[in-house]
Amino acid sequence: MKSLIFSFPPSPLLFCIFLILFNIPLSSNDDTYQWYTSCGSLFNCGMLTPVDYPFRVSDQPANCGYPGLEIECDDGKPNIVIMNVKYHILGIKQNAKVLEITRDDFMDDTCVDKFVNTTLDSTLFEYASGYENVTFLYGCPPSDVPIPGQFTCPIDGVANTNGYVTVGAQGPGPCHASVVVPIPSRFIRDVVNLTRLNQVIRDGFEVKWKVDDTTCSECRSSNGRCGYDLVLNQFSCFCPNQSSGSKTCNAALDGGGGSPGASPTAPGMYSPLFL
Ligand SMILES: *[C@@H]1O[C@H](CO)[C@@H](O)[C@H](O)[C@H]1NC(C)=O
Ligand SMILES: *[C@@H]1O[C@H](CO)[C@@H](O)[C@H](O)[C@H]1NC(C)=O
Ligand SMILES: *[C@@H]1O[C@H](CO)[C@@H](O)[C@H](O)[C@H]1NC(C)=O
Ligand SMILES: *[C@@H]1O[C@H](CO)[C@@H](O)[C@H](O)[C@H]1NC(C)=O
Repeated sequence: MKSLIFSFPPSPLLFCIFLILFNIPLSSNDDTYQWYTSCGSLFNCGMLTPVDYPFRVSDQPANCGYPGLEIECDDGKPNIVIMNVKYHILGIKQNAKVLEITRDDFMDDTCVDKFVNTTLDSTLFEYASGYENVTFLYGCPPSDVPIPGQFTCPIDGVANTNGYVTVGAQGPGPCHASVVVPIPSRFIRDVVNLTRLNQVIRDGFEVKWKVDDTTCSECRSSNGRCGYDLVLNQFSCFCPNQSSGSKTCNAALDGGGGSPGASPTAPGMYSPLFL
């Protein structure tokens, strides 16, 4: 049993296990240095402003951004997943801490594949002001009177089931499913005009991120680069001299600053290969 591991043919997984067993630490100093370097390279990903902390793009190490604020760059188009819903990012206002997003599933059609509400992760985001909810109801019982904002969608193999839009956040009621989407309050009258409403939804909405930016500005002014210590679960400032501080790269302000590789590396636990 104890030599079982050697009896299998070599595989990538085994190779990784060997790396973990014998080749660690892959120098924790290098890790920290790498974070300083790779967290410093700003990515544009089709946006006017480059991606910066608390966001990171998915091919940057996880330490470069706040957990949950990962931007996927699909064909030069930025996306973010919030509570299992994929959003297209239309803009980032770094100073105002505003992210402008639109639901990816509403980009083409009112008839979505999955019926999921627009729900923010309240630890990370809050709605900007000036928005109201509308609810898309799918698979509703036929109505004798014409309902404004009516549409039809195929649902569960049934073509042309009735759907309509209503103001406010509502459950499905007698319908098959409901999806809540925020729109700017000034467009609330457009719920009766589906063409217009779809345009309004594609134009997106703003959310504010809650992650504190003050520590990051202090880190930047000390020539550091902002990141996150996934082991200690806290902000981390990566410094040019390969150390990292809990706040800044300035020893006087940071109560001793960092020592090489002390944080955020848990020695021997991982290397950039596995991030
Ligand atoms: C929209 O409804 C959700 C619940 O589905 C609620 O959390 C959110 O605050 C509402 N947004 C607005 C702008 O009223
Ligand atoms: C969507 O939100 C509405 C209103 O808040 C709620 O009644 C409904 O259960 C939610 N649907 C899902 C799938 O969570
Ligand atoms: C619905 O909105 C579209 C796009 O804004 C507009 O062209 C059209 O005239 C509107 N239809 C009605 C009935 O108001
Ligand atoms: C890196 O610089 C900071 C201050 O700039 C200092 O506190 C820290 O000791 C330095 N670390 C190394 C390994 O030189």
